[in-house]
This record gives sequence, structure tokens and C-alpha cells, in this order.
Amino acid sequence: MQKYIRIIGTGSAAPDQILTNVDLEKMVETSDKWITERTGIKERHIAPKDKVGSDYACLASQRAMQMAGVTADEIDMIILGTVTPDAPLPSTACILQDKLGAKNAAVMDIVAACSGFIYGLSIARALIMIGQVKTVLVVGVEVLSRFVNWSDRNTCVLFGDGAGAAVLRGSDKPGGIINAYLKSNGSLAHLLQIPMGGSRIPLDASNVGHEDRYIRMKGSEVFKAAVKAMSEAATKILKICELESKDIKLMIPHQANIRIIEATAKRLKLPMDRVYVNVHKYGNTSAASIPIALDEAVREGRIKKGDKIMLVAFGAGFTWGATIIEW
Ligand code: ACO
Repeated sequence: MQKYIRIIGTGSAAPDQILTNVDLEKMVETSDKWITERTGIKERHIAPKDKVGSDYACLASQRAMQMAGVTADEIDMIILGTVTPDAPLPSTACILQDKLGAKNAAVMDIVAACSGFIYGLSIARALIMIGQVKTVLVVGVEVLSRFVNWSDRNTCVLFGDGAGAAVLRGSDKPGGIINAYLKSNGSLAHLLQIPMGGSRIPLDASNVGHEDRYIRMKGSEVFKAAVKAMSEAATKILKICELESKDIKLMIPHQANIRIIEATAKRLKLPMDRVYVNVHKYGNTSAASIPIALDEAVREGRIKKGDKIMLVAFGAGFTWGATIIEW
């Protein structure tokens, strides 16, 4: 049994190719001004045709393992959050396992959209705690650009590609993941979905080019639900951990929209200088958003030993959740 579960390494990776708001002005009827004011996004990374999510997941994982000083043989489990897998079968985690050479690992994908990384951390923590595994790699990766309708200005300006990873291990020293709070509401699935491509409506010649093959979102309804759910998750996890907002050194929220982030911070009475933001550089990378932001915050020195940080997410499903970590 392990009491303290720590993140001992983080890593991230994104495609080199950048699509700016000005580039998008040439593709759909939009403007840099509209996108910046409504979302905070300035640019996003887009994977070239010959790359898949597992390529970026592999790079991010190798960087996390290098920081942790952990070899591929030592990984007992890989938990990978994605809604844009390399293929329907097998899991992207299996493909990643092979690319990493992590031959001793049990692996699985989880589908919790933008909350995938927090769900993954929570599962990893529980399995290490009960002693079933020692070292777990948790990954969030998306290639959303393949599932975006590039002629729909309501959605195509929002999303980007990338991957983030963290290595978790039990420790005798107090600290690490203090607790997690997870929630879902499947009755609101219709507000954010890719209606086609599963067993309900398989992709075939009759639906080539159909808009339901891509991400469909009722933006303003998702916006309101996101602010409410992220504030709720943050408030709940503070209560569970017997902490207050003032104890949180840095909040790392899901990076979907700067206005959602600011509204959540305001409800928590957290000043923006204690909130990590990189949505301007990546757009919404769903499951990859929090681990990319966490890795950047660690590497920029924004998180110091002993700091309490909060991760909070909301995504399609709806799914949402939060966790507090003592670094
Ligand atoms: N450029 C210019 N105009 C646009 C664009 C665009 N790219 N997109 C929409 N508009 C127009 C609309 O057509 C609408 O015009 P109309 O009034 O003539 O009909 C107008 O702008 C306002 O549209 P709204 O949808 O009301 O704009 P809103 O302020 O809500 O912003 C946005 C839209 C950015 C999508 C916002 O609602 C949002 O961020 N929603 C949440 C997204 C999110 O957080 N998703 C998280 C989960 S993602 C996941 O799980 C994968």
C-alpha cells in the first residue's frame, strides 16, 4: 500500500506546423479580432498528414520519462486519454506502448474528452495506492484537426493538436496527489459530439462530406455549462482536501477559452496571476490541454516543491473534474 502518489516527470509535444488566426481568415469568414476577443486563441498546432497522435504521445512520454529518470521497462501501466485515436482498434495506448518499447506495461485508452488527463491521474493514483502497480504513465493526446469541419467557423477556429504526459510513482514522503473529484452528465452529450463514425451511424459512401462526421457543438450552451461545472469541481475538491482558494499556488484549468478560464477564476476568487494560461498558443487540445500546460508550468519554474496546485477540467460527455497536488 502506498499513501503518497507523486508526479515525478512531465513532458509535452506538439506538431511544428502552426495555423494562425490570420491563416484562418483565408479559410472561413472570421477575423483575428473575433477569435482573440471571444476565445483568447491566437494560434494552434496542426499535425501533418503523415503523423498520428501516438507519434506526439511518444515524444511527450519520452520527455516525461527522461525528467523522471524512468526507463520504458519500468512502466507498469499506460493510461491514455483521447477522443481522436489513431484508429478505432486497437487502443492508441497499445500503439504507444510499442513505440516506447514499454513491454512490461498493461495499457488502456480512456474516453473522457477534455477531462481525460484528470480521469487518468485519478485511476493511476488508485492503482498505485492499492499496490497493484508501481509506475504509471498518464498521457493526454489529440489530433482534433482530423475531426474538425474546416468550413464551420463555429468550431474550426477553436481546436488544435498535441500531447502531454506525466509519470506517477508511490513515495514515502508526504505530498503528491491529495485527492480527486470526478463527475459526468451523459444527458447533455448532444451539446458537443461527433454524431457519425461509430456503430450507430458508421462511415460509408452515403455520408462522405456530411457535417455530422465532424465535431458539432452548441458553443454558448457548452460555455455556460463549462463555467458552472469547473467552478463546482474546484469548490468540491477544495472542500474534500480541506483547503481554501488562498492555499492554491497555481490553478491549471482546461484551456478551451480564456473567458471560461477567467470566469472560473473569478468565481473562486483566484487572481489571474495564479492561473496558468497557454490557450493563445495551442487552442483547445482536449485531453492534451492540461498535461501540456502542466509540463510548461513545471519547465518554466511556475511550480516549486511544496506548492499546492489544482488541475480542473470540463469536456464533452459532459465530463468534468478536479484534483489537487502538493508538488
Ligand atoms: N468568426 C466570426 N464569427 C463567428 C465565429 C467565428 N469564428 N464563430 C461564430 N461566429 C458568430 C456566430 O455565427 C454568431 O453570429 P450570429 O449572432 O450572427 O448568429 C456570433 O458569432 C456569436 O456566436 P456565439 O456562439 O453566441 O458566440 P460566443 O460568444 O458563445 O462564442 C464560442 C463562441 C467561442 C464557441 C464559445 O461559445 C465557447 O468557447 N464555447 C465553449 C467551447 C468549449 O469550452 N468547449 C469545451 C469542451 S471541448 C471538448 O470537450 C472537446
